[in-house]
Amino acid sequence: MQVFDNVLEMVGRTPMVRANRLDTGRCELFLKLEALNPGGSIKDRIGRHMIEAAEKSGELKPGATLVEGTAGNTGLGLALAAAQKGYPLILVVPDKMSREKIFNLKAMGAEVILTRSDVAKGHPQYYQDLAQQIANETPDAFFINQFGNPSNPEAHRLTTGPEIWEQMDHNVDAIVFGVGSSGTMTGLSQYFSEVAPKLELVIADPVGSILAEYVNEGTLSEKSSSWMVEGIGEDFLPVISDFSRIAKAYAITDAESFAAGRELLLKEGVLGGSSTGTIIAAAQKYCQEQSEPKRVVAFVCDTGNKYLSKMYNDYWMLDNGFLERQQHGNLRDLIMRPYWKHDTVTVGPAEPLTSAYARMKLYDVSQLPVMDDEELVGIIDESDVLLAVYDHEERFSDPVSSAMTSDLDFVAVDADLRSLLPIFDAGKVAIVREDDRFLGLITRIDLLNYLRRSTDRG
Ligand SMILES: Cc1ncc(COP(=O)(O)O)c(C=O)c1O
Repeated sequence: MQVFDNVLEMVGRTPMVRANRLDTGRCELFLKLEALNPGGSIKDRIGRHMIEAAEKSGELKPGATLVEGTAGNTGLGLALAAAQKGYPLILVVPDKMSREKIFNLKAMGAEVILTRSDVAKGHPQYYQDLAQQIANETPDAFFINQFGNPSNPEAHRLTTGPEIWEQMDHNVDAIVFGVGSSGTMTGLSQYFSEVAPKLELVIADPVGSILAEYVNEGTLSEKSSSWMVEGIGEDFLPVISDFSRIAKAYAITDAESFAAGRELLLKEGVLGGSSTGTIIAAAQKYCQEQSEPKRVVAFVCDTGNKYLSKMYNDYWMLDNGFLERQQHGNLRDLIMRPYWKHDTVTVGPAEPLTSAYARMKLYDVSQLPVMDDEELVGIIDESDVLLAVYDHEERFSDPVSSAMTSDLDFVAVDADLRSLLPIFDAGKVAIVREDDRFLGLITRIDLLNYLRRSTDRG
C-alpha cells in the first residue's frame, strides 16, 4: 500500500462502489465516493487545482491572500491546499450553512466571514459579491472565483472524468450529478464529448433552483425560491456553465433528498450529505424510467458527517416536517421528545446540579423534568440552577431536589391548544399528563413549529 508524501496527493482517485439494495429498476447504479477525499468532498479536486493552475500561470504570487465566496465545501478544499502551501485564506460563507462546516473551516485556519443567505446575486451582501469586494479591498489578494474560473471545470476534465471512464471499464451510459458552480458538469461534458459522446449527463436539481426548468423547458426563470439541500442548485447561470450536452434534469424536493440520503445509508452503508440525497433520488428516477438496462454513475459528493445534526437527526427532521409521526389529534402531537417512547431527557432528584446543567447543555434544552422512577416530582430549568449556584459554587454538587420547582401546573392531553398560551406567557413550559401519567413537555418553540407545520400542510 502506498504512503503519500502529503495530504494533497490524496485528492481524487476516489473509489467506486455498486449499489446493491436500492431500487434501480433495470439499471445498475454505481456510486463515486467523493466523500473519501481528504477534505471530505468533491471540491478538494478544484481547491487544489485552482491554486496550482494560478501558481503555474503566474497569477498567484507567493504570500498572496486567497479570497473566495463559498457554500462550504470549496472552502474546505481551498483551506486544505492553502494551509499546505502557506497562503492565508478569507472565505465568505452564507449563513444557511451547517455549523459543522463552519467549525471545520475555522479549525483549518481559514478566516470565515458569514453573510446573508436570503439575498440574490447583485446584492452587496450576496456571498460571491461580498467576496469579490473583499478581494478588491485586500492588498495582494487573489480572488479564486470558482464560478468564473476555467480551472474549476478543468480539474474535472483532467481527473473526475478519466477516473470514471477507467473505473467503469469504458462502459457507462449515464452520469448523475448536481450543479453548484457547474464545474463538475462542464468538466465532465468536455471530457465525455471526446471519449463517449453518447453518454447521457443528467442533472439532479433542488426544487426552488432555476436549473431544471432551464434544461427541460429552455426557459430561464427570474424567480428562485429557497431550498435546504446544501451546495447545489442555482438562481443564475454561472459563467463557466455549459449545458449543451445535458440530457435531462430532475427537480427533487428537500423531503425526497433527505429521505434518499437516509435510505442510502440504511441500504448501502454509505453516509452522504444532503446533495448526495438529491443525486440518488434523481438517479433512481432516471433508472426506473429506463426500458433498457443501463450502467449509471452517481456522485456521493460529500460526507454526511457534516449533516448529522440536520438530515440524520430525527428531531430536526420532525421539526422541519420531513418525518411524519403518528398523529393523535391532541397535545401529544406537539411533544417532540415523548416520555412514553423513552425520548425525554430527564434527571433524578438525587443527582447533583452539575448533572442537570451538563444534560441541558448536551441536549440543548433549557429545562428537564425531574423523575423519581416513573413519577414526575419537579421541573428544573436554567434559572433554577443559576439562582442556586450564584455566589455558592459549591452548591453545584447539591441534589437537584434542592433547586427544582415542585409546584407544578399540569395540562391534560385533550386540553385545547389555546390553554398553552397563559402557561407560556408566565414563562413556564407545559407539562402534559394523561390521567396520572406524565407524557412529556411542550415549549414555546414546539408550539411555533407545530403552527408552522400546520400552515405548510395547508
Ligand atoms: C456539496 C456539493 N457542492 C457542490 C456540488 C456541485 O459541484 P459544482 O460546483 O462542480 O457544480 C456538489 C455536487 O454535486 C455538491 O454535492
